[in-house]
Amino acid sequence: MTHYSGELLLQIDSYIEGLFVPSDPTLESVLQRSRRARLPEIHVSPNEGRLLRLLAETAGARRILEVGTLGGYSTIYLARALPEHGSLISLELDERHAEVARENIAEAGLGDKIEVRTGDARKLLTNMVEGGVGPFDLTFIDADKGSYPEYLERALQLSHVGSLILADNTIRGGSVLDPGDEAAWATREFNENLAKDPRLSAHILPLIREHVDGLAVARVLKL
Ligand code: SAH
Ligand code: DHB
Ligand code: MG
Repeated sequence: MTHYSGELLLQIDSYIEGLFVPSDPTLESVLQRSRRARLPEIHVSPNEGRLLRLLAETAGARRILEVGTLGGYSTIYLARALPEHGSLISLELDERHAEVARENIAEAGLGDKIEVRTGDARKLLTNMVEGGVGPFDLTFIDADKGSYPEYLERALQLSHVGSLILADNTIRGGSVLDPGDEAAWATREFNENLAKDPRLSAHILPLIREHVDGLAVARVLKL
């Protein structure tokens, strides 16, 4: 059995990035503005961002929902997949994060397509379900990990048959393998729900980050 060092994994990630993710001044300045505003550096990696865009393109997404905006980095990747009249709503609890994201989105020239809504996503999503908003062609879940099981149910309520539901951080460095890891409990529950839900066809792609993480990809089969 070959042993893969963390160093080799990072080299493989850089190799893929070098091939498929050309350096992008807009996204670099997005990260710079986010750093200057002292936002936590927990955005998706360039490779994962590129994959999000590809999945949104593959789904032919015209309406996208994101849960957890931070500085808008993943938001911009997703929005780049939208057709001319497409739209994206992104939900963010932290006013300051949302403000930085709105600046970043305006700088990226995507202000007409993206709306950042501030508030607790648990509440905002309930309101959206009750208000008959949607359906969305794609939902990307990437906010507080403890609420993932609830976000999955809301995402389903805001989907149509054929919608994609994606979720970041579903492997968390392997902490989901440890039943004693309290912090990963809800993530494990989310993964198990995703795997057994007859409404979904789903899988998890392991992704190389600072540690190995995972992107869950699910397609709604029926509602
Ligand atoms: N998707 C972003 C990263 C999001 S980080 C990217 O890859 O670029 C997670 C974000 O979720 C943080 O900005 C955090 O403030 C927000 N968040 C945490 N709890 C939340 C909640 N209950 N409702 C909405 N947003 C929440
Ligand atoms: C954390 C959150 C994320 O969405 C992520 O991709 C990585 C880390 C965190 O809260 O630590
Ligand atoms: Mg994340």
